Amino acid sequence: MSITHPLVGQPLDALDTPVLLVDLDRFEANVSHLAETCRRLGIDWRPHAKGHKSPDVARKLLDAGAIGLTCAKLSEAEIFVDAGVEQILVANQLASPLKADRLARLQNRANVIGIVDCAEAADLLSVSAQAEGVTIPVLIDVDTGMHRTGVIPGPRVLQLAKHVAAKKGLRFEGIMGFEGHTYKDSPEEKSDRCAVAIGHLDEARRQLTEGGLDVPIVSAGGTGCYEWSAHLAGVTELQAGGGIFMDAMYREACNVGPELQYALTLLTTVTGVHEDHIVTDAGFKTLWSFHHPPRLLDAEGVSFEYLSAEHGVYRRTPDGTMPCFGDRLVLLPGYHDATTYLHNEFVCIRHGVVEDVWPLATRGALT
Ligand SMILES: Cc1ncc(COP(=O)(O)O)c(C=O)c1O
Repeated sequence: MSITHPLVGQPLDALDTPVLLVDLDRFEANVSHLAETCRRLGIDWRPHAKGHKSPDVARKLLDAGAIGLTCAKLSEAEIFVDAGVEQILVANQLASPLKADRLARLQNRANVIGIVDCAEAADLLSVSAQAEGVTIPVLIDVDTGMHRTGVIPGPRVLQLAKHVAAKKGLRFEGIMGFEGHTYKDSPEEKSDRCAVAIGHLDEARRQLTEGGLDVPIVSAGGTGCYEWSAHLAGVTELQAGGGIFMDAMYREACNVGPELQYALTLLTTVTGVHEDHIVTDAGFKTLWSFHHPPRLLDAEGVSFEYLSAEHGVYRRTPDGTMPCFGDRLVLLPGYHDATTYLHNEFVCIRHGVVEDVWPLATRGALT
């Protein structure tokens, strides 16, 4: 028997603050938009789950047509597999026998792809796969310009792919890259730099094919650049995930268009009003200003100044009307991903009433 969360059916006024809210109409519109974009382009959607951390959200994305999920951490993948997700890409290289063994064991229950950018990582996976009696699907991570992880484009991609293909217990499945270095480019620059980034993947795909390897997967793209890269030749699947919620950074710093709406907000209360500033109950243990500052949506008279642990401080603007003590205000997170992980649950709202509550089950899954 499923137990209904006590908040379900309550009006917004009944919620104590600070509380993380999902506007279901907007969320569903964002999910449809991303799923439809991929459908139209003839590519798969494997949305990154690092922002939502929720099997409930995963189910909605799969229902909308996502082929599976991308995860940052193996422990996230384990929780999603427990929840019934069957196709996962762990987009981080595993560097210990402990982790390689866990990835091998997961193959008994789901198709969980690993990535490598060095032969040592492939060798680790191969040992674990053989010990477990399974085959681990593997992508080569290509550095498309971010210079964080990945093989530098060129002959080393083919070398490593051949190494993987020759290893017992591994199946070479293709390549991935993440053009995150383009997120905050101007739209014109982003167009050029995404073309260069995806061009590296397409060229790698061509070299691999000429080298005799099948390359079924070329995985790339994030919310901050999908409009500039998802349509480019070579891409077979899109990893963009954060766009299901949208945030201030994607819109204001990455110029992501209005097709994606602000579905994730925080309800906060004004706990103090001073001469030139106000204080709210949402500090950096509730949302974080990492990457981009948060914004009060319905309070024109103040602008973000700083967060301390349990206080948000907003400064009076030259001719603004200050909110009052006890006012409940709607906050737009700067970067949603640096906010969701601080919360246990999403409170989902439709027409001012709580319709559902989704736990963030992979919160704290860091290994
Ligand atoms: C490997 C990888 N893929 C995709 C993304 C894009 O995620 P999002 O769409 O949530 O911005 C990221 C973001 O950090 C990433 O690291």
